[in-house]
Amino acid sequence: MYDRKDAFYKKAKMEGFKSRAAYKLLELNKKHALFRSGDTVLDIGCAPGGWVQVVLQQKKSIVVGVDLLEVMNLEDTRFTFIQGDITEQATVEQVLEAAPVYDCVVSDAAPNTSGSKLLDHVNSVDLVRLIYSFTKKVLKKGGNFTFKVFEGEDRSDLVKDIKKDFDFCKMLRPEATRKKSFEMYIVLKGFKGNNE
Ligand SMILES: C[S@@+](CC[C@H](N)C(=O)[O-])C[C@H]1O[C@@H](n2cnc3c(N)ncnc32)[C@H](O)[C@@H]1O
Repeated sequence: MYDRKDAFYKKAKMEGFKSRAAYKLLELNKKHALFRSGDTVLDIGCAPGGWVQVVLQQKKSIVVGVDLLEVMNLEDTRFTFIQGDITEQATVEQVLEAAPVYDCVVSDAAPNTSGSKLLDHVNSVDLVRLIYSFTKKVLKKGGNFTFKVFEGEDRSDLVKDIKKDFDFCKMLRPEATRKKSFEMYIVLKGFKGNNE
């Protein structure tokens, strides 16, 4: 068991963030300028809403968030929430209705962990591939994509396949990542465009 009440958990409570994960996006954005004021951002796997709050800190940005779970008590005219599975067509259609193109896509989505590191890794890679196949249809040329993946042997092929579509790629583990976690964040900038 991890200590749920670690420093980032307490900080999030004090500062009004809905998740400790908010600090991961703050760090990623500080280091790599993933989005800026005025951007339209798609947040995949957005519940309980910490990343949404981080994007909304930029006054003119718009966020569309998707999650299997509900996002509670996060009302903002610049935030549209869609409850659903991003791998399903009905959800994708709602996302497109909310905004047809995005300056930035961020995904903190991960399948439920099973206790098997290998299975969790494989499921995470599969989910990222599905998320990317949708992302490349909605991301603006020059746009940015950041995703989480559980580490394992297929990670390098996954990153290789996606990074060829971008000008810049960096892998990192933000400070707020729990020590025992095997998650990794991949930042991709400068989408070369959709040739489909
Ligand atoms: C670590 S949480 C995200 C935390 C969020 N970034 C925050 O700051 O509050 C991962 C989320 O991904 C969601 N998720 C997993 N698979 C999904 C899918 N196929 N479609 C939509 N959401 C999914 C889960 O329901 C979960 O809420």
